[in-house]
Amino acid sequence: MDFLLKLLRMPATLAALIGDHLIGPVLLRAAGVQHGNGLVLVGSPVIRMKPGGTIRLGRQVALYSRPTSNPLLLNTPCGLRLLETGARITIGDHCALSGTVICSAKSVEIGNHVLIGANSRISDSDFHPLSAEARRMDRNKGVASKPVVIKDDVFIGSGAFILKGTILETGCVVGAGAVVSGTFPPNSIIAGNPARVIKTLDVQETPL
Ligand SMILES: CC(C)(COP(=O)(O)OP(=O)(O)OC[C@H]1O[C@@H](n2cnc3c(N)ncnc32)[C@H](O)[C@@H]1OP(=O)(O)O)[C@@H](O)C(=O)NCCC(=O)NCCS
Repeated sequence: MDFLLKLLRMPATLAALIGDHLIGPVLLRAAGVQHGNGLVLVGSPVIRMKPGGTIRLGRQVALYSRPTSNPLLLNTPCGLRLLETGARITIGDHCALSGTVICSAKSVEIGNHVLIGANSRISDSDFHPLSAEARRMDRNKGVASKPVVIKDDVFIGSGAFILKGTILETGCVVGAGAVVSGTFPPNSIIAGNPARVIKTLDVQETPL
């Protein structure tokens, strides 16, 4: 029975393998994404470039976009989206994103060995102005944005939202569902809405 199921699934599995290993990386490069060796794609990420913008992925970066590619199941594919001309998204080496959407109007910079849990969101922009009058005039103009910096060895839990201007120093851990804004010292464990430091990791526990 197991064998029969595998046999029936074979065409779909083969199509997924070809898509992930051959077509996906070509489409990513065609969209203007720069990436290092060892890129892992599972399912198709959504990419939006802007003139003069850059999206750069380091070595051994994994983007999990298929719903079943994470035990928690993914609500959306990964998305890397530039919102303004000249915006940047930079992701370092050995990072993994699961159904994560990153939007950058200026800059979102992610270090090395960063893990981003299922269905998290990161944005350096508010997307719309805060004043009702300005929104009526033009809902996409005069939007506040501030760069986001996520340093090495940060681990972001599932469903977190990292807001504009956030700086997560090396080794921070962000709890599931946290709404994060502000600057957080190295090795902080951060949780809640608004996210606060609930603990500081013993430096011994920090991966080297
Ligand atoms: C934040 C986290 C790392 C803390 O783990 P921990 O250090 O073992 O902390 P504890 O479970 O001892 O909880 C400490 C306190 O924080 C609270 N807390 C823990 N996680 C929380 C969260 N995500 N949001 C709000 N509060 C949280 C606990 O209720 C507890 O509160 P109390 O001291 O008032 O009782 C963990 O709870 C978490 O959210 N992990 C992320 C898992 C995840 O999403 N993985 C990615 C899957 S793709």
